[in-house]
Amino acid sequence: MDDLALGKKAIETKSKSLPTYSNFHVGAALLTKDGKIYEGGNIETSSYSLTICAERTAVFKAILEGEREFESIAIASDSDEFCPPCGACRQVLLDLCGKDLNVILINPKEEIKKFKLSELIPHSFGEDFLK
Ligand code: THU
Repeated sequence: MDDLALGKKAIETKSKSLPTYSNFHVGAALLTKDGKIYEGGNIETSSYSLTICAERTAVFKAILEGEREFESIAIASDSDEFCPPCGACRQVLLDLCGKDLNVILINPKEEIKKFKLSELIPHSFGEDFLK
C-alpha cells in the first residue's frame, strides 16, 4: 500500500474517534509488514488525563491481535497543518514498532510529510537501557 492510500485511511478513520471534550479528531492507520491495517482514533473521557491518542489505540489494538512487525503509521487530524504524534505516542511507537517505522503525516489537502520515527525521537530512552 502506498503512503497516500494509508494517509487517506487515516483521514477516513478520524470519523470513528471520540474526542468528546476537545472536538479535535485524530485518525491513525498502522500498516503491518504483511499488509494489514489497524485503525486508531483518539478517545476522550471526562477525566481528561485518561484520554488516549489515535496512534496508541492503533498500536495497542494491533499488539493484542498478535502483530509485532510494522511498516508505517499515517496520522490525520482536524487541523489544516500536519499533525505530528505527541511525545508519549513517540515513545510508545518506538518501543512497540521500532525506530525504522515510517511516520506519514497527511493534511486535509492530502499532502504528505514523511519521517522515520528515529528522526522524531532522537536521543531516546529504550529497551537497551534495561538489559
Ligand atoms: N491527540 C492524538 O490523538 N494524537 C496526538 O499525537 C496528538 C493529540 C489527541 C488527544 C486529544 O484527544 C486531542 O488530540 C487533543 O489533544
